[in-house]
Amino acid sequence: MPKYRIAWLPGDGIGVEVLEAAALVLDRLGLDAEYVPGDIGWEFWRAEGDALPARTVDLLESVDAAMFGAITSKPARAAEAELSPALRGRGLTYRSPIVRMRQRFDLYVCLRPCRAYPGNPLNYREGIDLVVFRENTEDLYAGVEFSPVPRELADVLGRLSKPFTPFASLPDDAYAVSCKVNTRAGSERIVRAAFEFARRNGRKKVTAIHKANVVRATDGLFLEVARAVAHDYPEIAFDEANIDAMTMWLLKNPFNYDVLVAPNLYGDIISDLAAQMVGGLGFGCSGNIGERLGVFEPAHGSAPKHAGQHKANPIATILAVKMMLEWLSERDKAAALDEAVADVIREGRVRTYDMGGRNTTMEMAEAIAARLPAGVTR
Ligand code: NAI
Ligand code: MG
Repeated sequence: MPKYRIAWLPGDGIGVEVLEAAALVLDRLGLDAEYVPGDIGWEFWRAEGDALPARTVDLLESVDAAMFGAITSKPARAAEAELSPALRGRGLTYRSPIVRMRQRFDLYVCLRPCRAYPGNPLNYREGIDLVVFRENTEDLYAGVEFSPVPRELADVLGRLSKPFTPFASLPDDAYAVSCKVNTRAGSERIVRAAFEFARRNGRKKVTAIHKANVVRATDGLFLEVARAVAHDYPEIAFDEANIDAMTMWLLKNPFNYDVLVAPNLYGDIISDLAAQMVGGLGFGCSGNIGERLGVFEPAHGSAPKHAGQHKANPIATILAVKMMLEWLSERDKAAALDEAVADVIREGRVRTYDMGGRNTTMEMAEAIAARLPAGVTR
């Protein structure tokens, strides 16, 4: 029996193409694993009214890790309109399957390393090496949302909100409410994960990102917890920054930052920015990690305008494979893969369109696979 059982979730658009590239690399590495395909994405929403069918949830219950490509998401009304006719008008609501996966399996760490591989023509600066820890299950993504707003909620808001909330007396469809919910425990475990990572990897500093001057309740709590956790790691510098200022400082002084930790939405924003600084979405890899399961993916989406053209850069996904190997404690294979990616980028002979080249997704994957030393091949 293979050592690992891995769910294989290509999803939509370029998700399918970049996972083919990932398969080629894993094959070459000879990981002792069984890959079990799973259904996820837009096609299952349209046909079944569920972008993450129960059988896929069951599959995820049974695996050691998952590789996920990307899915297409659309706002609620557009999603309803694309349902197969038999499913329309049944009150089905679309919720992003990746957000559901994160919550269902409590994948509370969203880990996004952003390293400038030397020689990448897209590097904002050579030498950037940031690691983002994004809280992955709560905050504005908690899914506690109201549109239209129920009367009971309007009454409570009208009664309890200080200062007076004029919108609470508006008609129920004249406004909408999305709740930002941050727990003490949820904040603590993500901040601790960031500090533990810093400690294990000899990182010097952790910066907590927030907007506590305005969003006082939730971000105030996050910041308070972050400060308390920082006391347990006296050898690691601790620093705080407002999310808005952070987008500016990160560009101005990228070398002042090391490990960044943030609530869900700010983490989402800052990790796209950090990814862009090391080459863009074609380089941004992501691990959704809980106590039992890790789901690894490129940070990008399904890029419908490029789908079917076999030109997407697979490096983000191949780096997600590397993260999965690290998480499975297959350190030699992870290191070999990282070196192969670094070599191909440094040499600059094979480049996808985003890097200014003309190579296809699979040509890039083949170039990386060809670099993997004989010792790790099957
Ligand atoms: P996107 O990430 O799919 O693409 C934005 C642009 O980035 C692309 O048009 C392309 O120019 C570039 N890009 C992305 N991946 C690339 C790659 N591997 N190589 C080269 N260039 C690449 O974001 P967009 O267009 O905002 O969303 C498209 C769909 O994907 C939407 O339905 C969205 O909801 C969904 N999405 C899904 C995510 C996921 O599955 N985790 C994450 C983000 C968006
Ligand atoms: Mg994103």
